[in-house]
Amino acid sequence: VTRKPLIAGNWKMNLDHLQAVAFVQKLHWTLKDAGHEHDTVEVAVFPPFTDIRTVQTLIDADKIPFALGGQDLSTKDSGAYTGEISGAFLKKLDAGYVIIGHSERREYHHESDADVAAKVQAALRHDLVPVICVGETLEQREESGPTAVSVEQLKVALEGVPADADVVVAYEPVWAIGTGQVASPEQAQEVCSALRAVVAASLGDEAAARTRILYGGSVKSGNIASFMREPDVDGALVGGASLIAEEFAAIVRYQK
Ligand code: G3H
Repeated sequence: VTRKPLIAGNWKMNLDHLQAVAFVQKLHWTLKDAGHEHDTVEVAVFPPFTDIRTVQTLIDADKIPFALGGQDLSTKDSGAYTGEISGAFLKKLDAGYVIIGHSERREYHHESDADVAAKVQAALRHDLVPVICVGETLEQREESGPTAVSVEQLKVALEGVPADADVVVAYEPVWAIGTGQVASPEQAQEVCSALRAVVAASLGDEAAARTRILYGGSVKSGNIASFMREPDVDGALVGGASLIAEEFAAIVRYQK
C-alpha cells in the first residue's frame, strides 16, 4: 500500500478571517508557481472556527485543492452546549478532517483519553477523518520511555472504531511543540512504528497499512525531508511554520 503523504497546517489561534483569505491565496499561488502536483502530497489547513466558512468559500470559488479541517469538535451533535462546535457544522462547511486530542487541548482544557475517544466517535458519526494527536511530555519520556504514553493514548482513542474507518494519527512529542527542539527522525520513527502496531492490533493489518501517521513538533522546511525518509512517517502536522506561506509551501514541497 502506498500512503499519500499529508502535510497539515494547524494554525491554532492565529489568522483572523481576513488574514486567512490573504494567506490561503498566497499559499495557493506559491505552490502553483512552484509547479506543485497535488496528487503527490495532500495539503490540509486547520483554521480557527471563525475562519472556516471564509476559507471554504475561497477554496471552492478558486478551485484551490486544499483539504480543510477543524481544530477540535464537540462530543455532542447539537443542543444546549454553549461555545461548542459540532461535527455536523464542520461537515456542512466541507471540512474533511478534525484535529482531536491536541496536547494543548489535553493540557489547557483537561481533555482526558476518554474525552478524546468520545470526540473520535463524534467525528466518525459525521464522516470526518479524525487526526488523533498523541505524545509524551519530557517527564513522561524519562519515566516510562519514548512509546508508552503515545501507545496508551492511541489505544483508548481507537476503542470502538470500526476496522474500515479512515483515521490519521499525529505523533507530537509535547517537548518538541513550539520549542524549536525538534525530535530526531529516529525518535519519530520509533514512536510512529509503535503507533502503527497499535493501529494493527486495534483495527487490523489492512488499516495499519493504509493509515497515515504524521510527525509534529517544530517541523520546518529544513528538517521535513529527514522525517519523510522514515518508513512510518507519512507527513507532518505543522504549527508555527504553517503560518508563513513560503515556508509552509517549502514543507509541502519537501524532497525525500
Ligand atoms: O499542531 C501542531 C503542533 O503542535 C506543532 O507545532 O510546529 O509550532 O511546533 P509547532
